[in-house]
Formats: sequence, structure tokens, C-alpha cells
Amino acid sequence: MKKMLTTLQGIKSDTPPIWLMRQAGRYLPEYLATRTKAGSFLDLCYNPELATEVTLQPIRRFGFDASILFSDILVVPHALGQELSFAENHGPVLGALPENLVFDPSDFHKKLEPVYQAIEGIRAGLQTEGFSETALIGFSGAPWTLACYMIDRKGSKDFAATRIMALKDEEKFNALIELLVSAISSYLIKQIERGAEIVQIFDSWAGVLPPSQFSKWVTQPTQKIVANIRAVYPDTPIIGFPKGAGVLYQNYASLTGLTAIGIDTQMPVNWVRDNLQPSIIVQGNLDPFTLASGSPALLKEADAILSALGDKPFIFNLGHGIDKSTPPEQVKRLVDHIRGYSHDQ
Ligand code: CP3
Repeated sequence: MKKMLTTLQGIKSDTPPIWLMRQAGRYLPEYLATRTKAGSFLDLCYNPELATEVTLQPIRRFGFDASILFSDILVVPHALGQELSFAENHGPVLGALPENLVFDPSDFHKKLEPVYQAIEGIRAGLQTEGFSETALIGFSGAPWTLACYMIDRKGSKDFAATRIMALKDEEKFNALIELLVSAISSYLIKQIERGAEIVQIFDSWAGVLPPSQFSKWVTQPTQKIVANIRAVYPDTPIIGFPKGAGVLYQNYASLTGLTAIGIDTQMPVNWVRDNLQPSIIVQGNLDPFTLASGSPALLKEADAILSALGDKPFIFNLGHGIDKSTPPEQVKRLVDHIRGYSHDQ
């Protein structure tokens, strides 16, 4: 059975499975070539054949234990009717939040059909290209993080407009979160139906909230999504990634019902071992810039993570997405090192 799946069942392997967030992306020349062929980043996300191609590119190079659907978390607001564009090197820009936002499942799934077709294409591609041990991860943004982009309408360091609205107009904000809980649950269930073997929920901006609001906007909506998925697919592993949650990772890990959690770069691994690993499977958390640097610190840091967390079922990953400056040969070096590592030696 695939190492990612056994690990997520709580069974430890000789060496941990490894994949990297944003493993398909701009650090790979073949990705840049396919993006040019597609026309734009968004065109690439909605082209099932080319999205399949870029998903498989890092698997061909590095033989990761998991592939992750090539798409973006912002296709969900887009499918709900909010305008979206990606300006080259400037990140996403969204249109005004539609006044009469509704979740109409049939319209929503129709717009996201190319994503579901990509999932089928990736599963077929993994099989025909001989990667039968590589699992496929589907994903969505979490309600809080999607609301941040929907209200602030672009990337931000503090998401001020969203945080003010959550407090000043809590009823309206709560209605948006509830709508997103429904849409995201339905989206992830459909991804599993079409072939995703694991799903990951990215809450990239969980870390901007004070403890008094974290539970309400991060933990509780995630818990509802987990329950909705489990009602249909009780056995599909679900990974949560509440970036920047700090000590609130404990609240999140114990209340959401997730199978596993991704820990970000800032989390001290010994704290994670003592406070999270006893109750949940952990994924993470090498600094993406330590990888990009290729410095001697790279293998040392990787070993420090393995020696703290490798005694339990564990998934090796970065603490955030791979940076576009990363030389592909450093990724190869990391993967070879993790694969050759035996925790008992
Ligand atoms: O991990 C993978 O390989 C799968 C694909 C994936 C992308 N985005 C592709 C992408 C995934 C899982 C995401 C998630 C995503 N998208 C998140 C959550 C994870 C995180 O990084 O915190 C967020 C916040 C977004 C929104 C988003 N998409 C931003 C802010 C940006 C611009 C920043 C940047 O890195 O340029 C994107 C663009 C994006 N999404 C790119 C890729 C490969 C780069 C676009 C390009 O090719 O020009």
C-alpha cells in the first residue's frame, strides 16, 4: 500500500513519506514552459490536460510519495462568482464581493469540472507512468483564508478589512463563513469522488487571528468540514494546515477531528513532538529557504526534524511552499537524503 496512506493510518515506515507544498511550480523550467503554453496561470488551472502535466512533472523528477492536484485555493471564490486574476509577480486580485453571493451546487461544480477532470487525469497518468506508489492529494482553502482574500481582495500582511468586518458585522461575516463551509465540503467530497485519495485544507492566514477568535473562525469551521466529509467518506485522510497558529495548533489538533496537521516553519519540533504528536499525525516543516540555499544547514535541519518527529508516523514536508529560487538539484538532494535515512541508525 502507498506509504502516504499507511502513514496516515498511523503505521510508521522505515523512512517517512515525502512531498513538498507547491512542488509543481516556478522553480521547474518545464512548469514555466507549460504555463506559457497554457497562456496564463489561471488558464493552466482550468486546463485538465496541462494541469495533469504540471502535477506529474515533479513526480517524474523526484518520485515523491504524494502528488498534489495542480490548482489554486482561489478557484473556489471564482466559482462562486467573484472575479479573479493573477498579475504576473503580483499575486491574486479579486473583484468586489458579489452582493447576492449564493452557493448553487450545480453551477459551482459545473465551473469546477476542469479541476475534477484533472484529478481523473492525474490518477490515470500516475498509473500509466509507473508511479503506482504515489498518492494523490486534493485540496481547498479553509473558510477563514478564503474569506480573507474575498474581502481584502488581494494578498495582505494583516488582512485588515476582513478582521474588521468579522468584528463589526459579525452576522454577515458568519453567513459568509457558513456559505464557505458548505461550498468547501461539497468541493472536497467531489474531489474524493473523482479520485483524490487524501485532502488538505490550507488555512494560510490562521495566524493573524487573536486566540479569542481563532476557535470561531479557524477551528470550528474546519471541524464542520471534516464532519461533512466524514459523513460521506469516513476513511479518507484529511490534513489541516493552519499556518501561523503557534500554540493554538493544540486547540486546532484536538477539536477539528483531522487525521493529520501540517506544521509551519516556525514551530519548534520538540514542542510539536511533546504537544501534538501524542494525539495527531504531523507533517512538516523544513524552512523553504534552507532548502533553496542548498547550504550545509539543509541536511542538518532535515536530520533535526527527523530525529525529533521520526519516531512516530510522520510525513516530511516543508513548513510552507517551495520558493521559486530553489535549484531542482537541491530538492533531489533532500529527497535522496530522506529516503536513505533510517531513524534507528
Ligand atoms: O502545491 C502545489 O504544487 C499545488 C498547487 C497550489 C498552488 N497554490 C499553485 C500556485 C496550491 C496547493 C496552492 C495553494 C494556495 N494558493 C495557497 C495556500 C498555500 C500557501 O501558499 O499559503 C494560497 C494562499 C494561494 C493563493 C495564491 N496563489 C497566491 C497568494 C499566489 C501568489 C503568490 C505566488 O507564489 O506567486 C498564488 C499563485 C500560485 N499558486 C502559483 C502557483 C504555482 C504561482 C503562479 C504562477 O505560476 O505564476
